[in-house]
Amino acid sequence: MDTVTTLPAAPPAPRGIIRRLHSRQGREDPFPLFEEIRTAGPVVSLGPHALLVTRYAECAQILSDRVWQVPDQQWRSERGIHTSGAGSGVMATLPRLNPPRHSQLRHLLAGPFTPRTLDRLRPTIRELVRSHLDGLEAELEHHGRAEFMGTVARALPVAVMCAILGLPLSDASLLSHYSVQTAPLTEPFATPAQIAAADAAGADFHAYVLALLESSLQAGGNGLLSQWLTHERLESGQLSVSDLAANVVFLVGAGVETTSSLFATALLALEQHPRQAAWLKAHPGAWPQAVEELMRWDPSVHNAVRVPAQNTVLAGIAVPAGTLVHALIAAANRDCDQFTNPHDLDFQRRPQRSLAFGGGLHYCLGAPLARLNAAEFLPELLRRFPTLRTDGPAVRPAGLNLRTVITLPVTRDRLAS
Ligand code: HEM
Repeated sequence: MDTVTTLPAAPPAPRGIIRRLHSRQGREDPFPLFEEIRTAGPVVSLGPHALLVTRYAECAQILSDRVWQVPDQQWRSERGIHTSGAGSGVMATLPRLNPPRHSQLRHLLAGPFTPRTLDRLRPTIRELVRSHLDGLEAELEHHGRAEFMGTVARALPVAVMCAILGLPLSDASLLSHYSVQTAPLTEPFATPAQIAAADAAGADFHAYVLALLESSLQAGGNGLLSQWLTHERLESGQLSVSDLAANVVFLVGAGVETTSSLFATALLALEQHPRQAAWLKAHPGAWPQAVEELMRWDPSVHNAVRVPAQNTVLAGIAVPAGTLVHALIAAANRDCDQFTNPHDLDFQRRPQRSLAFGGGLHYCLGAPLARLNAAEFLPELLRRFPTLRTDGPAVRPAGLNLRTVITLPVTRDRLAS
C-alpha cells in the first residue's frame, strides 16, 4: 500500500479564511490571519485538492525540492482548468513552466538581470530617480500633496524596465496601466470579472509588445528585444516571437508591481516605526539590510503555488500528486521558529535568508534589479523629502499573491526654520 495514504490528512483551514484574507481588514493586515492558519496546523486543507502552508521549513522545502513543480499547462489540462491570461500567453512565461523548457527560457532571458550587467545601468537609474523625485517635488509644491504610486513608486520601476528592455519611455503611463490591470492574472482567487478585465488588458499588452517586436525585427534593431530574437533562436524553435512577447509582458508586471509595493511598504513602515526610521537615518550604510528586513517583514509577493509531481509527505501530512499547495511566503517570513520576534521590524536583525524572493529554480530573476532600484531610490527619497508622510490610506486590491498598492496619497510637513 502507498505509505502516503496511511498518513493523516491535513486539518481544515480556519473557516472563511480566503474570504477574510480578501476583506478590507485582511488586505490591510493579513498577518493575524496567517497566525490563525498556523495555529490550525502547519499544513491545512482548503478542500479536497488544495492546501495552505505557513511555516518557514515547509515553504522552503516546497520552493526548493525538485518533487515540487509549478502548476503548468499540462497540470491544468488534466484537470480541465480554464486558463486565464491565454491572450497574453501567460502559460508560456517563466513562472508557469517546468524544466526542461523553464531552464532553457530562463537561460535565454537572464542576461540583462545579472548584477554585473545591471551595474552598468546604475547611472541611468540614478538619473531616473532624480527626475522622478523632481516630479514629486513639483507636485508637492503645486498641490501640497501628491499621489506617491503614480508619481514615483510605480512610475520609476516602469521607467527602469523601459530602459532595460528598450521599450519607449513615452509609453510609460500605458505600461503602468497594463501592469496594474494584469496583476489579477497571478491571483488564485480573483473573481471572474477581475479575470476578464485582466485578460483583456493582458491581450492588449501582448499585442503592443508583439507590434514592437515585429518592427524591431524589420528594422534590424540592435536593442535588447532584437538581441533576444536572433534568427538562430527563432529558426531553432528555442524562442518564438509570441513567447518572447508573453515574457516581456510578464517581466514588466513582475518587476513593477513588486518594486512599487516595496517602495510603498518602506514609506508606511518607516512612518509606523519612528525609532527604526531614526536609527536608519543615523546609520545610512545600513540601507541594504533595512531593505532585506522590509521584504522579510512584509514581502511584495505573499504566496507561491506548487504541485507535487508524485505522492509526497509534508510535515507528516499525506500530499497526493497534483495537489495544489499555497506556500504562504509572507507567513513563513514571520515564523518564530526561524526568526526571533518575527513580527518586529528590526533593521539590526542578524541577516537570515527570508523567502521574499522565493527559492529554488524559480528564485526571482529580478532580485538584483529590485535591490538596485531600492538602493538608489529609498535613501534619496528620504534625503530629499525628510518630512514626507502619508496623507490617507494605501489602497490595496484584494489578492493572496501580490501585495500591490494602487494609490497612496502623500504630503510633507514644512521644516521649522
Ligand atoms: C521587491 C521586488 C520583488 C519581489 C519581492 C519579487 C518576488 C518574487 C518571488 C517570490 C518569485 C518566485 C515566485 C514563485 O516561486 O512562484 C519571483 C519570481 C520572478 N520574478 Fe520577482 N520579485 C521582485 C522583483 C522583480 C523584478 C524587478 C523583476 C524583473 C525582472 C522580477 C522578475 C521575476 C521573474 C521573471 C520571476 C520568475 C522566475 C522563474 O520562474 O524562474 N521580479 N519574484
